[in-house]
Amino acid sequence: MSVRVLSVASEVYPVIKTGGLADVAGALPLALKAEGVEVRTLVPGYPDVTNVIGTAEVVLQWPDFFGGAGRLLFGAVGELELFVLDAPHLYARAGNPYLTPEGVDWPDNGVRFAALGRIAADIGLGTVPAFVPDVVHAHDWQAGLAPAYLHYSGRPRPGTMMTVHNLAYLGRFPQDLLGRIGLPWESFALHGVEYYGQVSFMKAGLQLADHITTVSPTYAKEILDEEGGMGLAGLLRERAGALSGILNGIDIRVWNPATDPHIPGRFNARDLAARPANKAALQRRLGLEPFPDACLVGVISRLSWQKGLDLLLEELPTLLDEGMQLALLGSGDADLQERFSAAANADPERIGVFIGYDESLAHLIQAGADALVVPSRFEPCGLTQLCALRYGAVPVVSRVGGLEDTVVDIDDAADGAATGLKFAPVTPDRLAHTLRRMSTIFHDKAAWRRLQLNGMSTDVSWRGPAKQYADLYRRLVHLPA
Ligand code: ADP
Ligand code: GLC
Repeated sequence: MSVRVLSVASEVYPVIKTGGLADVAGALPLALKAEGVEVRTLVPGYPDVTNVIGTAEVVLQWPDFFGGAGRLLFGAVGELELFVLDAPHLYARAGNPYLTPEGVDWPDNGVRFAALGRIAADIGLGTVPAFVPDVVHAHDWQAGLAPAYLHYSGRPRPGTMMTVHNLAYLGRFPQDLLGRIGLPWESFALHGVEYYGQVSFMKAGLQLADHITTVSPTYAKEILDEEGGMGLAGLLRERAGALSGILNGIDIRVWNPATDPHIPGRFNARDLAARPANKAALQRRLGLEPFPDACLVGVISRLSWQKGLDLLLEELPTLLDEGMQLALLGSGDADLQERFSAAANADPERIGVFIGYDESLAHLIQAGADALVVPSRFEPCGLTQLCALRYGAVPVVSRVGGLEDTVVDIDDAADGAATGLKFAPVTPDRLAHTLRRMSTIFHDKAAWRRLQLNGMSTDVSWRGPAKQYADLYRRLVHLPA
């Protein structure tokens, strides 16, 4: 049976991206084609989006949509089919989709993303006859009101699914927002959109969607605990029967070391001979000493508390004592940016830091670093360790969320199926211990090569996950009354 799905996301690769959500929203629809699922993706019309869907068709228009003129456009970017909510008063702002140039949330984010949910629900209710979805799939809080609008419409509606990519962002707004976004007052209730006296878009989605997924089985369990549940553990436990974890994949065409246009030396699992050339290029790019034999540790990350990189800062002396080098690409918290930059200035031959967003450098790090460190305090799934597996950079990760589910520690794999190293609890001590373990294994060339090859033969594609999503969609088609 062919199924039609409207995917609703606030970012989508390759058009607009701040993190892994965009990668997922951009790659999953393509993988679903092979499963007989037809996906269109609804995104806000930020300048990065409206600029690339040039020849779009105008599907709907309104003179007054949440305080200004609005249009719904439809167009394609590569193989992605996009509905774009073009409402310049809400989205015609360059840069980060959520933050002002000063780095704080846009004050009208509540209205901006309520509008996204509203249109998603309208499409769900059949406003665009050419595409009436069987399922509306909302990603993270920015899309969380889509299931709520559908629920309170009181009309026959499609099935709804809410995917949690990160429960740390709840999309909370004052109660008076309700009056401006057209949800009924009755929705401000324990079993509605209310969250400790405010409106939470994430909570709305979790409460009112027919099914909830999150991006790894371990994170699906972690969010049932008070610590991981961000105040929503009770709700999630109540809804545990409708909650499942499906691991993310990566787009193995975008992330393919055999064809990657961003790297000087292409390679594959049968022939890693070109890998050292990538390491040398990476060292040159970051101004590191060109040691071929030093273990070069990579990091590609948002710099936020979640990612645990303050632990790595603390353990830089351990890393250097072991004769390793660091190549870090990241941006985010000003404090972490400054501290990593200062470390690089103090020891430029061994610590290379690029603060900013650079896709090409991300590929070069995956292709040239010996190991990739991800010491997250929590990690719903994590994508960089999946890319690392595919590129032969051995992942060294904390035992949380999707990191636990995607990396096999050398001590846990009696059958020689290990792909990396894991540590717990997430403390500087355990990280230091693991860096030392890693250093020992790195110098055993055969053992290291086994880790690399096991990683490179791991299936990190979307094939398996897409099948699981397709099965779920099919179950949801006939669910609503
Ligand atoms: P999160 O979504 O929590 O940031 P993920 O690991 O799921 O973490 O996804 C991060 C994505 O963003 C990956 O595709 C990674 O390569 C990319 N990325 C993160 N930081 C940067 C950066 N500074 N430059 C380029 N790409 C980055
Ligand atoms: C979030 C999570 C990350 C996950 C990504 C895509 O940003 O922090 O762990 O991989 O979403 O699902």
